[in-house]
Amino acid sequence: MPAVVPLLPLSTGLPAYKHYEPQYNLDDLVRDIKTYLGESGGISSADVDNEYLISLAQKYISDPNDWARYFYNDTSKNYTRNAIENINQKANILLLVWNPGKGSPVHDHANAHCIMKILAGTLQETVYRIPDQESGPPGPLEIKSDTRHTMNDVAYISDDIGLHRVYNPSSDQVAVSLHLYTPPNAADYGYNVYNEATGKACFVPQAKSVPQKE
Ligand code: NI
Repeated sequence: MPAVVPLLPLSTGLPAYKHYEPQYNLDDLVRDIKTYLGESGGISSADVDNEYLISLAQKYISDPNDWARYFYNDTSKNYTRNAIENINQKANILLLVWNPGKGSPVHDHANAHCIMKILAGTLQETVYRIPDQESGPPGPLEIKSDTRHTMNDVAYISDDIGLHRVYNPSSDQVAVSLHLYTPPNAADYGYNVYNEATGKACFVPQAKSVPQKE
């Protein structure tokens, strides 16, 4: 709790002044991401310090007053992607709304960093090893980890870590998450979805014009 600091002598009869730390809001987070990526040298994922971006996402505490204006849910879809900010050639920042019991296919991240922060509800993330597509049929995908994320948790994935599938395990509540993709390769060029049973990859080209991954 913030300390109660008497700024004025008690004899003035005025109440003690309560000092609150200024809230780090969603606009602050987007501004800091833009500032950082604006300064980073290039647009490849190797130019980006993902730990720094993760720390920014962790600093932000979810407040629906910040993100309600981006919130749109199409109940006929598994999840709805809402644009928050497109930092040209550098990143996409999105608000995703997940319907109860619905999720994404298993997918890769097109050589980009993906940071996901839970803003409301719960999301289950299953991470898989990327199968070798070169030496014959790859076989069923192998699970590396299975994690339940709750509000304000931050998850990170890249192709160096593996593939993942994200879904909302709730039977009756939507989940909301903030996603940062940098660089925005999946939106610009495409990405792969994977069949969990066979391990086979299927490229989804030019994802701007077709349903996109989360
Ligand atoms: Ni993903």
